[in-house]
Amino acid sequence: MSSKCHILIFPYPAQGHLLPLLDLTHHLALKSITITIIITPKNIPILNNLISTHPNTINTLILPFPSHPIIPPGVENIRDIGNTGNYPFINALSKLQNPIIEWFNSHANPPVAIISDFFLGWTHQLATQLGIPRIAFYSSNAFLTAVVIRCWRDLLPPPPPHAVVHFPGLPGTPSFKRQHLPSIFLRYRELDLESEFVKKSFEANAESWGCIFNTFRGLDGMYLDHLQVQFGHRRFFAVGPLCSNRVESDPDGGCEVLKWLDQWEENGSVLYVCFGSQKVLRKEQIASLALGLENSWVRFIWVVKDSNGSLPNGFEDRVSGRGLVVKSWAPQVAILGHRVVGGFLSHCGWNSVLEAMVAGVAILGWPMEADQFVNARLLVEDIGVAVRICEGADSVPNPDELGRAISELMGGDSLQKRRGKVMREEALKVLGKDGNSSKELDELVKALMQLGVRE
Ligand SMILES: *[C@@H]1O[C@H](CO)[C@@H](O)[C@H](O)[C@H]1NC(C)=O
Ligand SMILES: *[C@@H]1O[C@H](CO)[C@@H](O)[C@H](O)[C@H]1NC(C)=O
Ligand SMILES: *[C@@H]1O[C@H](CO)[C@@H](O)[C@H](O)[C@H]1NC(C)=O
Repeated sequence: MSSKCHILIFPYPAQGHLLPLLDLTHHLALKSITITIIITPKNIPILNNLISTHPNTINTLILPFPSHPIIPPGVENIRDIGNTGNYPFINALSKLQNPIIEWFNSHANPPVAIISDFFLGWTHQLATQLGIPRIAFYSSNAFLTAVVIRCWRDLLPPPPPHAVVHFPGLPGTPSFKRQHLPSIFLRYRELDLESEFVKKSFEANAESWGCIFNTFRGLDGMYLDHLQVQFGHRRFFAVGPLCSNRVESDPDGGCEVLKWLDQWEENGSVLYVCFGSQKVLRKEQIASLALGLENSWVRFIWVVKDSNGSLPNGFEDRVSGRGLVVKSWAPQVAILGHRVVGGFLSHCGWNSVLEAMVAGVAILGWPMEADQFVNARLLVEDIGVAVRICEGADSVPNPDELGRAISELMGGDSLQKRRGKVMREEALKVLGKDGNSSKELDELVKALMQLGVRE
């Protein structure tokens, strides 16, 4: 039976989307499902670990990245162009439809379903043409999904700057400043063909056969229930957090950081500061953050990219003994999981959030773009594990307020720290043998197997 169950996986080439879908692929391969991953040449190295772990079950379908007038040749990952590249990427990748159909038609044992990222909603039409079901993979949470659906449905054209947008139909009737709505929606331009295609692509997600979420019931179950009613089916699989098995390579220096942490006795006393793989702060932002950290008297590790000359003079000397500045890569999961780390100053990217949940730390949120404002609301208002310290990619926090917020959250046994520990218990429980996420993963596997014996 298992040999017939062949699934096509189509990831979206942006780090935050790719990593969790590849984690899911790993879990499916462990259940001996045969898998083909669609990938373009420049992204192949990202698959190396996964393929060497599952040489017999995972294959690749390598297709050249379709050319596009505003994507420079050789750019095949959002990392190389930034979030403004999403509209061109979504449109360019849709040109892969015909090559995929050709490959499918000539395959001796073609896939029985396609699992594709929610930024690739157009694959719903592809799946219809192939006569197989499409399952949308949401690398993010159900709250974001609910907000994005409402945006496309009720808010076009995007409201004027500085408007406040209410979502009365959603649980908790959230509202957002217009500029804090998901940027994938804000980039829409009326009468622009690429914008129309993106809109249609997102609408197709709701029509897909099933959906997988990188979240768990204890985190945003309320919004999962809401979406289930709206989509009118129960083929929902909340299998998150998909982040606990990731291998962190350690090019150099990672061990030094962990040794530095080992020296402290007091559990939960160190703050970890890192804004994800893409964001580079401006000089004013770095200066203000540095002063805030200095004022807080809290122990910290700060991963500063592009720090060349932008740290205030003498900063590292003044905080030496309690602060460590890391100028390259840092093993984030290991740092967050260290007993002495109790807080995470983060941009609230969803992968970072889930890593924080598994580690059981409190969050100081500085959402900057994309889905981060929506994530921050979930963490602050619904879960209570975070406080906001700043908002926006261009904002500069007030160093005095920042210092106070850091020392309040980190000092002693704050409410957010206690919530962090509760969320860790929940996350470990759902991932455990009889946990909800494990069960939903098993149900997904069962559903895929059944598609495999259909004929
Ligand atoms: C698991 O899911 C059920 C039903 O959705 C829910 O009632 C229960 O609280 C969940 N358990 C956990 C640990 O999240
Ligand atoms: C600190 O954390 C470690 C690991 O979780 C635990 O074994 C130890 O008992 C904790 N120490 C205190 C004083 O709570
Ligand atoms: C910092 O400066 C050094 C030497 O000038 C350079 O090699 C390095 O690439 C710079 N790093 C960043 C992140 O800009």
